[in-house]
Amino acid sequence: MKILGIETSCDECSASVVEDGKVICSNIIATQIAIHRPFYGVVPEIASRKHLEWITPVVMQALEEASCTLQDIDGVAATYRPGLIGSLLVGLSYAKGLAFTSQLPFIGVDHIEAHLYAVQLEQPLGYPFIGVLVSGGHTMIAVVNDFDDFEVLGTTIDDACGEAFDKVAKFYDYGYPGGVAIQKLAVNGNAKAFKFPHPSLHKGDHRYNVSYSGLKNAAINQLDLFWDKKSEKSAENIAASFQKTAIDILLSRVFRAAEDTNIKTAVFGGGVAANSYLREILKEHPDIKSVFPSLKLCTDNAAMVAGCAYQLFSRGERSSFSLRASARVPAFRWHKGKQ
Ligand code: KG4
Ligand code: ZN
Repeated sequence: MKILGIETSCDECSASVVEDGKVICSNIIATQIAIHRPFYGVVPEIASRKHLEWITPVVMQALEEASCTLQDIDGVAATYRPGLIGSLLVGLSYAKGLAFTSQLPFIGVDHIEAHLYAVQLEQPLGYPFIGVLVSGGHTMIAVVNDFDDFEVLGTTIDDACGEAFDKVAKFYDYGYPGGVAIQKLAVNGNAKAFKFPHPSLHKGDHRYNVSYSGLKNAAINQLDLFWDKKSEKSAENIAASFQKTAIDILLSRVFRAAEDTNIKTAVFGGGVAANSYLREILKEHPDIKSVFPSLKLCTDNAAMVAGCAYQLFSRGERSSFSLRASARVPAFRWHKGKQ
């Protein structure tokens, strides 16, 4: 079964053909990074206008690279939540139009489920596992019982992990996207030069939550307070110390979740999963089997959408053409599994 997937939830305009939920026949990702760089962040209005311009050539290229025409496609899928509403609408409407005119089944895919599915395009996985989604918009630690069945243990109570990277990089003019810029600077930095604070969320419902606004604030507004004067106050040292703290905060919750649930496999997804410090540090923890998608599948891409859609289609699920885009995932979705 060949699925055409479309992803336009933020600033990547992507289309992909995936066969049987695992063979990537094409995965075209047209990134708008250079367009948003002068603004140090995604400008929603510009993003949706660029998607409108790019969506047709991107879909055509995805079909061409997969040596397909629409006649070879068995279903069309697009991300319908969460994301920037104007951006989501472009891909979702385009997918509905294609499906309707080609008389193909259509399905809407949840971007968070898609990120955690990405690994399965490259290797088979057993359930349950601890799913760790770390992107520019989301931070979530969950027990994943199936590709669309999560028991959410923790989320961020303020900024997303990637967002903290982006904001710190923006403040210091380190480059855009922030995560990539900070990782690059951190290679030559001393991670002990600044002892940034960890949030102390230890009890009850907060046990697995993370918080990044304190760290962001410390790195931006209270730098001297956490500076070890024996080291230089350089960009490299700020980046390395910030990166170490941000990742250590996340991992403290992942380890806690693995210990409490006795589930020893952690599967990562989202842009921050590309972080080299995160990947390196986990090598020192052989007690946890950590699984990462390849770098191209960490950040937004349509192959993960097509892969997820295959699983839904295989169950006989279809979306109505009246399916609406949604900027957020409804709060109850986090607690009750599939809704
Ligand atoms: O998954 P993604 O492409 O988009 C969202 O769904 O948000 O993630 C983008 C985020 C940005 O915040 C970016 O700074 C971060 O992922 N990111 C990284 C790295 N590469 C991208 N953060 C840390 N280290 C990286 N190597
Ligand atoms: Zn994403």
